[in-house]
Amino acid sequence: MKTSQSTFLITILLIASFSSSTHGLILNGLRIGSIRINGVLFCSLDGNLIGNSPPLSGAIVQLSCAGQNTDIGQALTNPAGVFVVVVKILDTFFFDPATCFIRVNLPVATCSVFPPDGALTASLNLVSIIQTALGNIANFTTGNFVHSIL
Ligand SMILES: *[C@@H]1O[C@H](CO)[C@@H](O)[C@H](O)[C@H]1NC(C)=O
Repeated sequence: MKTSQSTFLITILLIASFSSSTHGLILNGLRIGSIRINGVLFCSLDGNLIGNSPPLSGAIVQLSCAGQNTDIGQALTNPAGVFVVVVKILDTFFFDPATCFIRVNLPVATCSVFPPDGALTASLNLVSIIQTALGNIANFTTGNFVHSIL
């Protein structure tokens, strides 16, 4: 490769990494202004619907990301067990759907069949990107909950 070509390539790479760190989250080529995560929590051995397990109302669910010990966002489940966590993405806020997850800290006093310690965690799946006048919203749903000892 000629020097001018490699210089050009390195410049492109630098611009790409620079813009991703200063312009927040880009998904499917769209700049994301906020994220919305929707899911349902049941009172069962693992938080998922098993047989006729009842929905769990009034439980706190948190959005956590690997490598960050701060709580990024949280919500309470409604009487149908449904939660929606909405978080605005600031340029400085690191959010990577692959390393972020929904977390329910255990124990939960109102559900005695949950494991006694650790947490229930669920991964995030992108459903759609909703384009609004106020910015793009990345609409996620949660995968199955799994018990984690962390
Ligand atoms: C957002 O995701 C939910 C599933 O979590 C889905 O039911 C809903 O239709 C989606 N909204 C839009 C506007 O795509």
